[in-house]
Amino acid sequence: MKRDTDSIRQARESFNRVLGSQKYADIIRDSGHLELLLELAGSGHRSVLDIGTGNGYLAFPLAKRLPDANVVGIDIAEKIVERNNAFARERGIKNLSFLAFDGLLYPFESGSFDLIVTRYAFHHFPNAGNAVRQMNQILRKNGKVLVSDPMRSSAGRGEIIDDFMRVKKDGHIRFYSSEALDGLFLSSGFRKEAQVITDMRFPFPRQAEYTELYNRLTEEEKSLYDMTDNDGVIWVNNIHVGNTVFAKE
Ligand SMILES: C[S@@+](CC[C@H](N)C(=O)[O-])C[C@H]1O[C@@H](n2cnc3c(N)ncnc32)[C@H](O)[C@@H]1O
Repeated sequence: MKRDTDSIRQARESFNRVLGSQKYADIIRDSGHLELLLELAGSGHRSVLDIGTGNGYLAFPLAKRLPDANVVGIDIAEKIVERNNAFARERGIKNLSFLAFDGLLYPFESGSFDLIVTRYAFHHFPNAGNAVRQMNQILRKNGKVLVSDPMRSSAGRGEIIDDFMRVKKDGHIRFYSSEALDGLFLSSGFRKEAQVITDMRFPFPRQAEYTELYNRLTEEEKSLYDMTDNDGVIWVNNIHVGNTVFAKE
């Protein structure tokens, strides 16, 4: 429990610092990916929850696409929550609101939502099993969860990617392989409905810790994510992103 709250504190500090910046908005923007998620989210929903909403990159378009739905975005980073609420108010968006929470307990009653979405945040959840059980509880019958997150390779030592991700100290817990993610959801009363795999590439900042980790990898390990050292900048040239829909049984 202490470890859980330590990682949440780390994530909160880190994300409160970066989430409001234009630089961060540019990094997370990906219009093709957004379009895919809106498609996978489907239509006809009345109440939608976006967990780890950040600057509302997914929540704002969802609220626009689903004018009859009430959309709520939650996050541990209270500064961005305030900013998002101000932004929604200024623009007269009536069906969207944001809420700060402790990162562990979703503050909603059973059966509150018919869709839960979460983009690039699942790897920050300190107790993913508990998070998935709560998702099941706050969803209505036949409700759906759309999880979008980079995936560990299930071939070989896929966990090497997490060593790199933790250098940043932003509360990274772990990426899940497709099989491990299925395991979490299927054991908590969900069935898998759809999965579309997309790809992502990104550099780590030029920093000794990354180079040291990279230099310890075998060629086989580097090939798991097609990692390269381009003049001192370590690149992950290919990591799969799972965009997966689970339905409550
Ligand atoms: C990489 S950002 C993604 C933000 C947004 N979903 C997007 O697609 O741009 C990760 C988000 O997860 C939030 N986060 C971190 N730990 C969390 C937790 N335990 N529960 C909910 N959100 C969390 C961070 O504050 C941050 O907003």
